[in-house]
Amino acid sequence: MPVLIAPSVLSADFARLGEEVDMLMAAGADWIHFDVMDGHFVPNLTFGPPVIAGLRARTKAFFDVHLMVTHPESYIAPLAAAGANRMTVHAESGPHLHRTLQAVRDAGMKAGVALSPGTPVEGIRHVLPLIDLILVMTVNPGFGGQVFLDLHDKIQQARDLARTQSHQIHIQVDGGITAKTAAKAVTAGADVLVAGTAIFKPEDGAYAAHIQKIREACNAV
Ligand code: DX5
Ligand code: ZN
Repeated sequence: MPVLIAPSVLSADFARLGEEVDMLMAAGADWIHFDVMDGHFVPNLTFGPPVIAGLRARTKAFFDVHLMVTHPESYIAPLAAAGANRMTVHAESGPHLHRTLQAVRDAGMKAGVALSPGTPVEGIRHVLPLIDLILVMTVNPGFGGQVFLDLHDKIQQARDLARTQSHQIHIQVDGGITAKTAAKAVTAGADVLVAGTAIFKPEDGAYAAHIQKIREACNAV
């Protein structure tokens, strides 16, 4: 199966966010990745459901929403109403992960679980029937532009755990993805890569070329 590329708009020009999303889709993005941060779970604050709703009005793109917030359950109804396709919550964000994921699915969205670098994979075994994606963070959550942590064994463990299920569970790797690190993530078992800096920070607007470079690195594995 080809690796999917999900550009993160965290590093996009927020003054032109709608155009940026259109350009990413025209450049061949598979999903659009939204990093929702609340200033509590992580020391950074971004955007929330109203911004996502505004963008939904102009595109049918698959909206992959990564919540870095302390109370993910209070975002379920607003995000579903905003048109999010998947809501991924951090395993570390509260004591009732199973209940939250059930509620995400009941609201009509796909559900994912994110793991910060220090969180072991094993703890999510019992929620696997509820999810279609494990997000393995290869930086500590909160900021774009950080250096890739080579968590090879962890990505591999996530993939092995996913394969114990009869339904498909994506292994998404998020943080520090470039044409160089993409191969490492895919070799370990990733099938979806998130990339922000590698697409936006050259600041040349050549999104198709940057996405293509990552794709080629994946295909060479
Ligand atoms: C970090 C976010 C990532 C981030 C990736 O907390 O979850 O999605 O935007 O950005 P880069 O590609 O710059 O590491
Ligand atoms: Zn993310």
